[in-house]
Amino acid sequence: MTARTGRPTLAVVGATGAVGSVMLQILSQHADIWGEIRLIASPRSAGRKLSVRGEEVEVVALDEQALSGVDVAMFDVPDEVALQWAPVAAARGAVVVDNSGAFQMDPEVPLVVPEVNPHAARVRPRGIIANPHCTTLSMIVPLGALHAEFGLSELVVSSYQAVSGAGRAGIDTLRQQLSLVAGTELGTSPGDVRRAVGDKTGPFPEPVALNVVPWAGSLREDGWSSEEMKIRDESRKILGLPRLRVAVTCVRVPVVTAHSLTVHARFEDEVTVDRARDILATAPGVVLFDDPAAGEFPTPADVVGTDPTWVGRVRRCLDDPTALELFVCGDNLRKGSALNTAQIAELVAAEWAAS
Ligand SMILES: NC(=O)c1ccc[n+]([C@@H]2O[C@H](COP(=O)([O-])OP(=O)(O)OC[C@H]3O[C@@H](n4cnc5c(N)ncnc54)[C@H](OP(=O)(O)O)[C@@H]3O)[C@@H](O)[C@H]2O)c1
Repeated sequence: MTARTGRPTLAVVGATGAVGSVMLQILSQHADIWGEIRLIASPRSAGRKLSVRGEEVEVVALDEQALSGVDVAMFDVPDEVALQWAPVAAARGAVVVDNSGAFQMDPEVPLVVPEVNPHAARVRPRGIIANPHCTTLSMIVPLGALHAEFGLSELVVSSYQAVSGAGRAGIDTLRQQLSLVAGTELGTSPGDVRRAVGDKTGPFPEPVALNVVPWAGSLREDGWSSEEMKIRDESRKILGLPRLRVAVTCVRVPVVTAHSLTVHARFEDEVTVDRARDILATAPGVVLFDDPAAGEFPTPADVVGTDPTWVGRVRRCLDDPTALELFVCGDNLRKGSALNTAQIAELVAAEWAAS
C-alpha cells in the first residue's frame, strides 16, 4: 500500500457490469471512507461516465497505468480477466478483493464473509482476498451464526437462483424470453416454450421463462455442476470445516434478482426452534421473517434490493432432533456479491488507516 496519508484510493474494476453497477450504488450509500474512486472496465467502455458518490466519473480501460497508485482494487470481472489482472494489481501494491471465481479455492487466498470469518482477511499471502460465490453468500451468514452455537455437521441444500447470477446477459435473456412467451398459452404442451424461445437461451441450457432449470455452471465429475461443487467447497473453507458433509442441487428460476435456498442443516447437538429463532433474530446481517400463520416468509420479490439474508420457515426436522429446515433468501447482487466485497474492502481500509 502507499503512504498512510489521506484516504485510500479505490479501483472498481468491472464498474459497468451487473455487480459493478450495484457496487457504485453501495459506495454512494455507505460512509465515504475513500479518496479517489477509479472506475475501470474493458476498452469498450472507456470514456463512458458513471455516477458514484453523486459525481460523474469517467471509466478508463484496464491496463497497468489504471492500476497504479491504487490501495484497494475490487475486481468484478470474468474469471479469466481477474486471473490475469488481479496479480498485476497486487504486484503494484493494491490489496485485491476479487469477486470472480478465479481465486476462491486457492489455499493462499482467504475466502471472507465479514460476519463469519473477518479474521481470515488479514492473512493474504498473494495480496488477494476472495469473495465467495453468490449462492454460498446467500445462505452462509445465518448458517455461520447457527454453527457457532450448535456445531454444523451436514448440509443438504437446494437453490432457486435468479438469472442475474449470470450477469447482464442473464437478465437480458429472461426479459427477452418473457416478451416471446407473453400473452400466449405456452407452457401447456411438451417443447412449446422451447420452440417459442428458439436459440434465445442466452447463458442458460434451457428456456428459463415459464420454466425451472436444474443446472448452474459447467459439468464436473459424476454429474455435479461447478456451482454445486463451489457451494460445498466454499462452505467448508469459510466455516473451517474441511470434512463438512454437503449435498447441493442448483436450480435456475425465472426471478431477476435474489437467490433462495431450502436448507436442511444438521448439527452436533440437539436443537430447538426457539433457540434457533433467538440466534437468527439477533445475528448481524440476518432478518428472521417467519410467521407462516400471518403469511410471512421471505420471497425474492420482497428481498431484492435489501442487504441482509432473510430466513423463514424455521422448523425442527420431524425425524431428527439435531436438524433444522430453513428457507433462506438474499439479494445475489448485494450481500451475494457487491455488498460483501464492499464490506471486505472496508475491513482492509480500516487496517490501512490504523497502520
Ligand atoms: N451476477 C452475480 O450475481 C454475481 C455474484 C457474485 C459474483 N459474480 C462475479 O462477478 C464478476 C462480474 O459479474 P457480472 O455479473 O457483473 O458480469 P457482467 O455484468 O457481465 O459484467 C462484467 C464486467 O467485466 C468487465 N470486463 C469484461 N471483460 C473485461 C476485460 N477484458 N477487461 C476489463 N474489464 C472487462 C465488463 O466491462 P465492459 O462493460 O466494458 O464489457 C463489465 O464491467 C464475475 O466474475 C461473476 O462471476 C457475479
